[in-house]
Amino acid sequence: METIKKYVEENKERFLNELIELLKHPSVSADSAYNQDVLETADAVKDALEKAGCDKVEICETPGYPIVYGEKIIDSELPTVLVYGHYDVQPADPLELWDSPPFEPVIKKTDLHPDGAIFARGACDDKGQMYMHVKALEYMVKEDKLPCNIKFMIEGEEEIGSPSLAWFVERNQEKLANDVILISDTGMISNQQPSITTGLRGLSYVEVEVTGPNRDLHSGLYGGAVANPINILSKMIASLQDEDNRITVEGFYDNVEELSLEERKEMAKAPFSLENYKNSIDIDDVHGEKGYTTNERNSIRPTLDVNGIWGGYTGEGAKTVIPSKAYAKISMRLVPNQTPDEITEKFTKHFLKIAPKSVRVKVTPHHGGFSYVTPTSHIGYQAASKAYTDTFGVTPIPQRSGGSIPIVALFEKELKTKSILMGFGLDSDAIHSPNEHFGVFNYLKGIETIPLFYKYFVELHKEQ
Ligand code: BES
Ligand code: MN
Ligand code: MN
Repeated sequence: METIKKYVEENKERFLNELIELLKHPSVSADSAYNQDVLETADAVKDALEKAGCDKVEICETPGYPIVYGEKIIDSELPTVLVYGHYDVQPADPLELWDSPPFEPVIKKTDLHPDGAIFARGACDDKGQMYMHVKALEYMVKEDKLPCNIKFMIEGEEEIGSPSLAWFVERNQEKLANDVILISDTGMISNQQPSITTGLRGLSYVEVEVTGPNRDLHSGLYGGAVANPINILSKMIASLQDEDNRITVEGFYDNVEELSLEERKEMAKAPFSLENYKNSIDIDDVHGEKGYTTNERNSIRPTLDVNGIWGGYTGEGAKTVIPSKAYAKISMRLVPNQTPDEITEKFTKHFLKIAPKSVRVKVTPHHGGFSYVTPTSHIGYQAASKAYTDTFGVTPIPQRSGGSIPIVALFEKELKTKSILMGFGLDSDAIHSPNEHFGVFNYLKGIETIPLFYKYFVELHKEQ
């Protein structure tokens, strides 16, 4: 399919400019100060889908931010691909660590992106990757190359755990009926060695509150005789992992899927340099569960991490005080066969158990989600693999990711179809971090690869 290459080449500047306009909207779903901007972004996505050739596009109201739904149904006998993505982004702070403002996109060259990369919050996660699908649709409609039906479902709450999407999916099973779900919201190994994500980790997220005395106390008058909630919380957190960096919550590993030696050997074949890994994040050594490699630790093994910890006096100068309260936000990444609710329950029980009598502890669950796996034998995986092989000239490697898109497991449960995770970002693209970016090469390659997925998927579907 040479025409797609030509189409991308001819429309390159416009494709970049359109994405840059979309990235200017600060659609931060976590912060209500951006409420209007999130809503305007939904409108912008709606316009883009209409212009690209959808026959019907709707802004679907939910209890939270709206879902943009679009479709082009050409023949009810043909298969249907449902594209999922999100138009919301993570908060941009800390702002002072950005080299250019997060919502004023600029293109700059980097070592890994010699053709340039677009720097902006959401460039890779997920506006840039979602927009590749809009442009791929534009090409297929304009050049009469759309071989099947297509539906789009672009949400605005992914970064806050998709609270309204479950609600929407449960109520719109018919509307969302499909043969396969296509998502670009993950990464790949490198621009020389593409990979397709075959797994996502699940998530259990809790907030803990440790209360000591009923008010902040003078640390001289009371110090040494009254429990300091920050000291206690630190100790409790430290005890959640043992010397082998295994999680000590009772029953945490009970159902964890163990990969066979064979599968682990296969995984280890993926190109990986520990030196580059360490250098890229400026650390002298890695850390993790004994008996597992770095790539296993961050994909097939469950984890427990403190995301934030606070309490007491953190202002200028010194204040001598025993604080009344200490807090932490803790996330656990889950792997197949672990149930988010069960893990949250086990954590809560354990955390209350290890608390000394001198403090009171409260655990509040936040969002959660199941892990997910796509088998490489699925025709959607095979179609994606053929598509990448055509455009990159290399067969992509299947790889499980450590990240989470909790809604993917729910899609499988409610819509009974598999999701194919065709990501084009790189781990070094700094998603959720300052200076997030997305390679120009990656963006254009994505637009070039997606139409081939449709072509191969419909071919393989016919053969079934
Ligand atoms: N796109 C990411 C998930 C991701 C990134 C998966 C790279 C694999 C590779 C998504 O937007 C995200 O950030 N998910 C959150 C979970 C969500 C419930 C907030 C995550 O993984 O922390
Ligand atoms: Mn994302
Ligand atoms: Mn994200």
